[in-house]
Amino acid sequence: MSLKEKKILIIIGGGISAYKALDLIRLLKKNYADVKAILTKSGKEFVTPLSITTLTKNKTFEDIFDKNSEAEIDHIALSRWADLIVVLPTTANFMTKLSIGKAEDLATTVLLASNRDILLVPAMNVRMWLHKATQNNLKILQDYGYLFIGPEKGEMACGEYGEGKMSSPRQIFSFLKNYFFEKNLVKNKNLKALVTTGPTREYLDPVRYISNESSGKQGYEVALALKKLGIKTKLIAGPSNFISSRDLKIKKIISAKQMMNEVKKSLPVDVAVCAAAVSDFRPINKSKNKIKKNQANLSSIQLEKNPDILDYLSKNNKARPKVVVGFSAETENVIQNSKIKIKEKYCDLIIVNDVSKKDSGFNSDYNRVSIIDKKGKIKSIPRNKKSFIASTIAKIILDKLLINDKNIN
Ligand code: PMT
Repeated sequence: MSLKEKKILIIIGGGISAYKALDLIRLLKKNYADVKAILTKSGKEFVTPLSITTLTKNKTFEDIFDKNSEAEIDHIALSRWADLIVVLPTTANFMTKLSIGKAEDLATTVLLASNRDILLVPAMNVRMWLHKATQNNLKILQDYGYLFIGPEKGEMACGEYGEGKMSSPRQIFSFLKNYFFEKNLVKNKNLKALVTTGPTREYLDPVRYISNESSGKQGYEVALALKKLGIKTKLIAGPSNFISSRDLKIKKIISAKQMMNEVKKSLPVDVAVCAAAVSDFRPINKSKNKIKKNQANLSSIQLEKNPDILDYLSKNNKARPKVVVGFSAETENVIQNSKIKIKEKYCDLIIVNDVSKKDSGFNSDYNRVSIIDKKGKIKSIPRNKKSFIASTIAKIILDKLLINDKNIN
């Protein structure tokens, strides 16, 4: 795929690998990309503005306050110009600055003001990379939505060996090609997704109901992550605090029956993700008036089964989404029970939550999950923000959707 008309802004940080930025620019230009570069003060210790300008054929931006062209350097305009921003090398110090939202120079200000995807290319000594401070920053930055490539294992400039070596210009170039290839495919295919989330309420009378602890956060994050990948996404949510925004259309429902109706109305879609904690049962009778405490004959509640939405979607011969993802909330034999569920509910992936843990799962900003596919392959994600888990799930879904197209190309 050619990178013609793709606009890439490269921010060159202060590290010995800065010289590799020149190679990357050369590769990008050879593939017809339009490249602009910001050279940080420390980056200037390693490469010169002249060599960058020669390769990009554009002015090299350095200072936020440039006396010669004050009107020209508008950090907002620069951050909007790019289709993608690449920071190379991303040093440990730079990661710290980004994780606390610094805007102290042109590079950090452009990044803070950007609404584009940003690819960070870390390069540092192995101890620096493995340090808890850097690893914590990594988690924060992943949660903010920064993309990462590398670092790789290998011999470093300081002579030590380990994880910390910057990905090569070729590897970064392949990443960029794949990134734009996927973006193009998603755009051309006009992909659609539906996500269910939150609890349902099954009323006994006008004020009492059967429900559960779900907040809807995990499904909400999955819907946002799919939307971010360019997939037109509708979220069908049980009682929760979420409201529709320009970014995401949300349909609010209360009961399992209403959720099912809304799902049916939303078909056909390419992807369905069932993250909702749907009540399995509902009272057979709903009292019109509030049931009185002293009502003598109320010793039991008669229940009937709710429709299973995931099952309906997976086994829908006429309009089965190409990818159907279920969630599984378990407190014991978590993996074993979920493997049974993926078979019974006939879905392509199941996201397993161990909801016995107090610091993640229901009504928390954090989760820990295992993603199981139809062949039983398991990918576990240790405790992390629900937004991070959601973007991992969304990427796996996209890969599944595009697998045939990728094989052809
Ligand atoms: O909402 P949060 O506070 O963010 O918490 C997230 C979560 C823990 C609720 C979520 O990640 C989760 O695990 N959701 C699924 C919970 C659940 O109902 O699991 P289950 O094992 O009972 O159901 C299995 C699957 O069948 C789920 O995909 C569920 O949406 C679906 N189902 C179940 C019953 C039913 N009647 N219809 C369904 O579609």
